[in-house]
Amino acid sequence: MTSRDHAHGFETLAIHAGQEPEPRTGAVVPPIYQTSTYAQDAVGAPRLGYEYSRSGNPTRDALQECLAALEAGRRGLAFASGLAAEDVLVRTVCRPDDHVVIPNDAYGGTYRLFSKVAEVWGLEWSAAPVADVDAVRAAIRPNTKMVWIETPTNPLLSIADIGALAALAHESGALLVVDNTFASPYLQQPLVLGADVVVHSTTKYVGGHSDVVGGALVVADDELGGRLAYNQNATGAVNGPFDAWLTLRGIKTLGVRMDRHCDNAERIASYLTHHPKVASVLYPGLPGHPGHEVAAKQMRRFGGMVSFRAAGGEGAAIEVCNRARLFVLGESLGGVESLIEHPGRMTHASAAGSPLEVPGDLVRLSVGIETVDDLLADLEQALA
Ligand SMILES: Cc1ncc(COP(=O)(O)O)c(C=O)c1O
Repeated sequence: MTSRDHAHGFETLAIHAGQEPEPRTGAVVPPIYQTSTYAQDAVGAPRLGYEYSRSGNPTRDALQECLAALEAGRRGLAFASGLAAEDVLVRTVCRPDDHVVIPNDAYGGTYRLFSKVAEVWGLEWSAAPVADVDAVRAAIRPNTKMVWIETPTNPLLSIADIGALAALAHESGALLVVDNTFASPYLQQPLVLGADVVVHSTTKYVGGHSDVVGGALVVADDELGGRLAYNQNATGAVNGPFDAWLTLRGIKTLGVRMDRHCDNAERIASYLTHHPKVASVLYPGLPGHPGHEVAAKQMRRFGGMVSFRAAGGEGAAIEVCNRARLFVLGESLGGVESLIEHPGRMTHASAAGSPLEVPGDLVRLSVGIETVDDLLADLEQALA
């Protein structure tokens, strides 16, 4: 089953795409090809094209094939981390003096990549609220090569209209890049909605078990896929075979995990909405969320991330994070266990003092798949 075989349902592709039983033994799980190099049959005749594991590895290929299928793309590429994937994308598509539009509440590491690394190298960037199509239009310049969005955004859970922004980017000759980390391909397939490139931190929902760091790019266009693959090898930030294997193992349950993440997040968002110590709840599944209708149009469900603003301000937000017990205080997201964090001082600390600074009273929850009543009880005691 390949990435071009889109006749199957999502869960079938998650379990089988790129993962045919191994021909020699029939092993149903792709082996971990823990090798750096391969014996060649003659000079210039590598077996099945494999010559060196930075350039190609069968375990990574299985993951790449599966990722392409899940995102309904033509080509998937796996990297050592989400930021390694982003770096290759930026350096493949952009040249010095080009410009990129990024979200005004982008993931802090993405902001840092543009502001501290790409800018030094001569790339221009500006930040726009991606929920506002007119604001994104106003931010586009003649030299804009990419409109880069997250939806939902990290950590404010704003929703961008992928179809509308794809049309806008294309009118200007730019690519629409969607960081699909928060939604996962189970909840949202940006390429189907018109985007050109999907970015993932596979560290999150795709891997799903907080045991492996990785990243991915998936594209709809073979020519761009080829250029990215060239630079994946040329710059070398590939994931190792064991990391690729762990990610692939996580992917098999992506659909069932996401449904439980969504069930639990919906219950928690509704609970927080009625809590006197919570000033506001940011969850696209709530009918009052400004992006609710767009999210309902382009997502299967609304995801496992819930943010809220503490009524007592920054001190109260920090206190809730410190008091939580079952919700583990930690960075990252998308694993089976629930996490709580204070974005202003943790994941988004690198945006402090910038236009992307996040509110101090904000708390972000990555709602896991534990028994929801236990999660509610933990929040009850942490907020008490
Ligand atoms: C939305 C988003 N994109 C990209 C990244 C970067 O991925 P990684 O940490 O795997 O490099 C993260 C990490 O938290 C993220 O949340």
